[in-house]
Amino acid sequence: METSIANPKVKNLLANLYKDAADNDPINRKAAMELPETATRDEFYSAMRGVYMAIGPEFGHLLYTMARSAKAKTIVEFGTSFGVSTIYLAAAMKDNGGGKVITTEFHSEKAERAKKNLTEAGLADFVEFRVGDALKTLKADLPQNVDMLFLDGPKGMYMDVLKLMEPQVRSGIIASDNTDHQGLEEFLAYLRNSENGYISSPIHTRRGDRHPAHEVSLKI
Ligand SMILES: C[S@@+](CC[C@H](N)C(=O)[O-])C[C@H]1O[C@@H](n2cnc3c(N)ncnc32)[C@H](O)[C@@H]1O
Repeated sequence: METSIANPKVKNLLANLYKDAADNDPINRKAAMELPETATRDEFYSAMRGVYMAIGPEFGHLLYTMARSAKAKTIVEFGTSFGVSTIYLAAAMKDNGGGKVITTEFHSEKAERAKKNLTEAGLADFVEFRVGDALKTLKADLPQNVDMLFLDGPKGMYMDVLKLMEPQVRSGIIASDNTDHQGLEEFLAYLRNSENGYISSPIHTRRGDRHPAHEVSLKI
């Protein structure tokens, strides 16, 4: 049985997006690298408007597999960028027989490019795009149950987005990216304390010679 991530159209699109990111992210990152140390988080992400900052293929496959094994029908993604991770999640929705990824991105230009990519993948019907600050866009109009939450926006917001989503994520999966970033200690300690209702593990995937860090948690 062919999965939607093995579908040639989706595979080719992902390969093209990863190539575009490899060719252009280093150039487009320059503006952010030149910001003064005093730059705010919003100034940083504004300067990164042209940068993918996408998850790697191995973590993408893992997200797809987690969404499939949980038979997820509703997923919330914090941090769309150009939609690379959204493609993996939307593919799982399609292969689960239907469902919706609610994905949220601060910058409208990025969300527009993500929409275009999801349309090209033939997966746009499985995605609802929300534009703006996630703490506002995820405040209302959510399904009662969210089966999976994927955190991949600014790290300083992980705890606030998790707290906002907790009533909906009743017995769902929480996957978090870049968990080796500074400032996530409190967030990780919260997820790793079973008294808060979670079991949680750090994991690493491979990306060339790097080993990006993630956290996989289950609300119990
Ligand atoms: C690491 S990137 C997401 C990468 C994407 N998940 C992927 O793998 O393709 C983080 C994104 O969060 C967005 N962002 C920044 N502040 C935000 C906010 N307050 N609410 C929602 N998204 C935000 C950034 O513009 C950026 O595109």
